[in-house]
Amino acid sequence: MFELKDRDGLARIGILETAHGKIETPTLLPVINPNQITISPAEMKEKVGIQALITNSYIIRKHKDLREPALKEGLHELVDFHGPIMTDSGTFQSHMYGEVELEPLEIIEFQKAIGSDIGTVLDIFSEPEDKREKVETDLKTTIERTQLSADNKGNMMLAGPIQGGRFPDLREYAAKEMSKINCDVFPIGGVVPMMEKQMYFTLVDVILSAKKYLNPAVPVHLFGAGHPMLFSIAVLAGCDMFDSAAYAKFARDGRMMFSDGTRFLKDIRELPCHCPICTGHTADELRSSPNQEKLLALHNLYVSFAEIRAVKQAIHEGRIWELAETRARAHPNLLDGLKCFRKHTDLLEKTEPLSRDLAYLYTSPESYYRPTVSRLKKRILERYEPPKTGIQVLFPEATKPYSRTYGEHISKMKDKNNVAYWVDSLFCPVPMELDEMYPISQSVISERLEPGIQQEKMRVLKEFMDAGLISPEIKHWQGKETIESIPQGEPDVFDMNLARVKAVADMQFGKGTGRALMDGEVELVLSDKTHRIRNVMLDGQHILSMRAGDGVYTLKIAGAQILHKTFPSPKMRVIVNPDSAEFNRKGKSVFAAFIIDADPDIVPYDEVLIVDEKDELCAVGRTIMTRDEMLAFNKGMAVKVREGLKD
Ligand code: GUN
Ligand code: ZN
Repeated sequence: MFELKDRDGLARIGILETAHGKIETPTLLPVINPNQITISPAEMKEKVGIQALITNSYIIRKHKDLREPALKEGLHELVDFHGPIMTDSGTFQSHMYGEVELEPLEIIEFQKAIGSDIGTVLDIFSEPEDKREKVETDLKTTIERTQLSADNKGNMMLAGPIQGGRFPDLREYAAKEMSKINCDVFPIGGVVPMMEKQMYFTLVDVILSAKKYLNPAVPVHLFGAGHPMLFSIAVLAGCDMFDSAAYAKFARDGRMMFSDGTRFLKDIRELPCHCPICTGHTADELRSSPNQEKLLALHNLYVSFAEIRAVKQAIHEGRIWELAETRARAHPNLLDGLKCFRKHTDLLEKTEPLSRDLAYLYTSPESYYRPTVSRLKKRILERYEPPKTGIQVLFPEATKPYSRTYGEHISKMKDKNNVAYWVDSLFCPVPMELDEMYPISQSVISERLEPGIQQEKMRVLKEFMDAGLISPEIKHWQGKETIESIPQGEPDVFDMNLARVKAVADMQFGKGTGRALMDGEVELVLSDKTHRIRNVMLDGQHILSMRAGDGVYTLKIAGAQILHKTFPSPKMRVIVNPDSAEFNRKGKSVFAAFIIDADPDIVPYDEVLIVDEKDELCAVGRTIMTRDEMLAFNKGMAVKVREGLKD
């Protein structure tokens, strides 16, 4: 069973439980060839901290001196590793060398017999060049074999490979069909040639096409991915596990892997690595060592696992996009892989968190195409209600928060007339009162934007005009001249703080929520130090708190009651069964296994209403899952409850 622990969009930290212990993902399963062990599993565990490994059941079955002890003592004894072991089925051998004459069930039975923790279906490998008709036929066979294997898996966990060649729609189809079958891991197959030929755009395209329809509660493995250069991008696309023999194969060829590529030891003058091998030897010493192959293999593993840790830390920090964008600089094809993400914005927006703890960093033009940006633009277009005035001023990007930077100018214009204030931010035009909300204030942006991004910004400004949010007559800020051009009328009664309360609610909870939450006597509690909004009171009741860090609300019970009364189910709801409701009322968190349904528009870190089957409000909390995930996972926390109704 798989449990979600932490996430940044599709990238996630999870726990996969097996009969020989837990695996914390993302992780790399080194390939062990029992015929040719360069580094023993015990040494890998001690030095590099491997959690699990993968080996090939077909090779074990083929060689009598491996088969017999494996059947007698078990796989774990055979390779002397007592943690989780995954086995592959021989598909790759059959495909590469045409040697397997095997029934799909035979190899499943064999994997069970030797005690594999996770066995693999004998799938059919599709090459990226294969014609559509062939890929379709082979995919149908793989799906049939997976059903047959799942029906006979017994206590063994089963990996059901997603094939479909280079065709995104066939990968989608494969994901839909395979998700109906009881598999414990979904490896993405048929991708080794894509990685060898550095076809990273196609690789990302097929992964994301599969992710769109794969059961989110099942971990995704990327077959044959072992280069650390690729890990962050693959994890960003939703991969949880990798396996590879690359560490050993490269070492055999005198090659060293780094997070930015591969180098021949013979070409290395300086070792740019902190691992024990590289700090304990000079390049010359490695070149003349009789132990070279093993030392390079160890280095390759150290580097791979350091990158896995960097990826996990980035997920924890909410910085996986920044890491992937940095790594994509290593090779133009990898950069093309990163550029494929924008083709899948709709999918990415579903798991895009409401906010992050750390600021959005613009590291490259690709940063403009992150789902954070598209979400913000979409929400302003759909949810923001502009004040009714004919005069609009558009300020340029400036130090944040904008309302502080432009505060004096604004008060001069307010004295003259009703004006709506916008800022031409990198993301899109933003209303002044949204300036403290993530990611607007929480962003660091290069001052010298590329011409293509500037053009894109102009296009978006036009989109806002076409939508009627921004008038073609908007005044582009020219300093004193702009102030002078404001016609004298009634002084403005616009209150930035009240406008903020409403606009942030509409952006965060949906159109109309701001009005519902302000239907009465509104009183704001401001911070003594920063004068920013802390609490929103309605008719004397504390309904919302505004978080200083990301400028979004936490919902109080009184606020939840208003939203609950005003908006029918399933809006903002997570519906739980009676057992859970009882606990949630006491302030205990919601576990995925007890969820009956939820609002499909919920995104991670949204504030939600926890209700029972009769739509009675039980608690308020913050999600870590989407609706699809809440319904798919059988383990783990889905909503962190902050306040129960019985508190
Ligand atoms: N190893 C590398 N690619 C594949 C694949 O597509 N299927 C299986 N079973 N093993 C693989
Ligand atoms: Zn090293």
